[in-house]
Amino acid sequence: MPALQRFGVSMPEGLLKAFDEHIGLEGYTNRSEALRDVVRDHLIAGRWADSQAEVVGVITLVYDHHAYGLDEHLTEFQHQRHEIVVCSTHVHLDHHNCVEVIVVRGKGAEVQALADRLMSMRGVKHGQLSGTATGEGLE
Ligand code: NI
Repeated sequence: MPALQRFGVSMPEGLLKAFDEHIGLEGYTNRSEALRDVVRDHLIAGRWADSQAEVVGVITLVYDHHAYGLDEHLTEFQHQRHEIVVCSTHVHLDHHNCVEVIVVRGKGAEVQALADRLMSMRGVKHGQLSGTATGEGLE
């Protein structure tokens, strides 16, 4: 655990009250831990906005496996971007629907472009990209 530094924060009473209530519902037992997570969220959003920064993400796709050629298209695109795709898991949800979960890693803009391409394919009913990052400055 890195050395901790204390600092004072001023904020409007109503904002602090709402923050305390919110983090209490989320299960935080102290304000400092919640604030550290808020800061990390903000920094990670900045890395995603910086097209050259290294990020990690999870792409979730729900699609109809009867959609003509979709299985092949999804696989083909992942092969084309194999340097970004770390792994994927496929679940046959029911007779029609599949969910594919793809872990991706690379430069923010490239990861976002791959996710956009996969999510916009015809037959994909719902797609989502969840982003995170690791490394210096986020400990
Ligand atoms: Ni399936």
